[in-house]
Amino acid sequence: MSAARGEFSSRFGFLMAASGSAVGLGNIWGFPTNTASNGGAAFLFTYLILVFLLAYPALMAELIIGRHGHSNAVTALQGLSRGRATYLLGTTVGFVGIVTVSLILSFYVIVSGWMMAYLIDPLARLAGLNSLAGWLTGDGLVRDSLFVLLFMGLTIYVISAGVKEGIEKWASRLMPSLIVILILLILYVVTLPGASEGLRAYLVPDFGVVANPHLIINALGQAFFSLSLGVGTMLIYGSYVNKRENLAQLGSLVALLDVGIAFLAGLLILPAMYVAQNNGVAIYDAAGGLIAGPGLILSVLPALFNSMGPIGLLVALAFFLLMTIASLTSSISMLEVPVAYAVENHGVERKKATVAIGAIIAVICLIIVANFSVLFDLTVTVTTEWSQPLGGLFFCVFVAWIWNRNGLLREISQGYPDVEQSLFWKIWPFYVKFICPVAILMVYVQLLGFL
Ligand code: PHE
Repeated sequence: MSAARGEFSSRFGFLMAASGSAVGLGNIWGFPTNTASNGGAAFLFTYLILVFLLAYPALMAELIIGRHGHSNAVTALQGLSRGRATYLLGTTVGFVGIVTVSLILSFYVIVSGWMMAYLIDPLARLAGLNSLAGWLTGDGLVRDSLFVLLFMGLTIYVISAGVKEGIEKWASRLMPSLIVILILLILYVVTLPGASEGLRAYLVPDFGVVANPHLIINALGQAFFSLSLGVGTMLIYGSYVNKRENLAQLGSLVALLDVGIAFLAGLLILPAMYVAQNNGVAIYDAAGGLIAGPGLILSVLPALFNSMGPIGLLVALAFFLLMTIASLTSSISMLEVPVAYAVENHGVERKKATVAIGAIIAVICLIIVANFSVLFDLTVTVTTEWSQPLGGLFFCVFVAWIWNRNGLLREISQGYPDVEQSLFWKIWPFYVKFICPVAILMVYVQLLGFL
């Protein structure tokens, strides 16, 4: 075991790192399109309720296990076990988390690589290098592979520097920049013709859609992905939090930041789509739904930027910088999970562990790139729809069913001495014990086609 463990040096550092993990492609890409195709503000309300009633309790479970165990998920869960069966369960949940997050990272890096390529495109065009620009924005094995390596290189660079000098330092620089860029982009886009229609699509609720169980399940999946739950990411970040901090409060701030930035992203993406439509870009697919997924980010929005004239280059630059920053603060939190395990449990030196694990994941990325049509969607589905909620379920089970209540109370009271009298302690244990597991199980019932 390594003697000196990293620790965040301030509340701000932790908040930036954890909200950086949470805020990613899921917020800026996933949330706005999900909202637009699912009843606008009706989805937003459902999402807000689910985040605070289900995802926040699950987030707290991970943060608390992490801070208590002062270690990675495998060791922390083993430490909570009460006999052979729960020891084995803890080991399995920890390892499945490590494998899952590594696979999430392998598809995430591919998409983040696209964001980087599109970030360089306006620069290439400014420099008059039009054939380079064409190559950057055209699909291609070589381009994808190169940007996988570039983006993974950045992720490795940050993580090899450690918790304070890597994660905390970069998240504290990048997250405030992300918020500033996002707000500037919103202020510009909402002034353009067509924007108000987008705001209406986003903010006027269609409550007829809310009754639909698929919508609720969809929102729950979105909430779990967005808060980086179920794979040990928040657990490892929690393990770097000082015992003097009020964890319940920190957790709620992370959830608020995540939701707040997702909401802001909606104020950008939806108006932008309708401005694009106003400029003659098609925003509905053949089935009549709004174009979402890669089509939105890689074709609708670039077409919009192109239709804006010279200022479009600047807007494109700002937008893809935003996406690249959001991706990087998430990808580092993913790589930290296997790296922390290798460092703590196998005594590997941090730099070596980071480079070796990063290289292995980069190879997996390249395999997915080379077999994109078969492997990409499969990896996304297995990790985010199956493995992640299941992991979340087991973290809740460990906190509420395996850990004894006094031990749990003792851990939370550190940094929050009067927690026993708080609303949090009256409600949260009940939630993680019953409501969260049942809600997550319902997702599986739905996935298996029973609902
Ligand atoms: N929360 C990130 C996003 O919204 C994704 C993520 C998932 C990060 C799992 C870490 C772990 O993009």
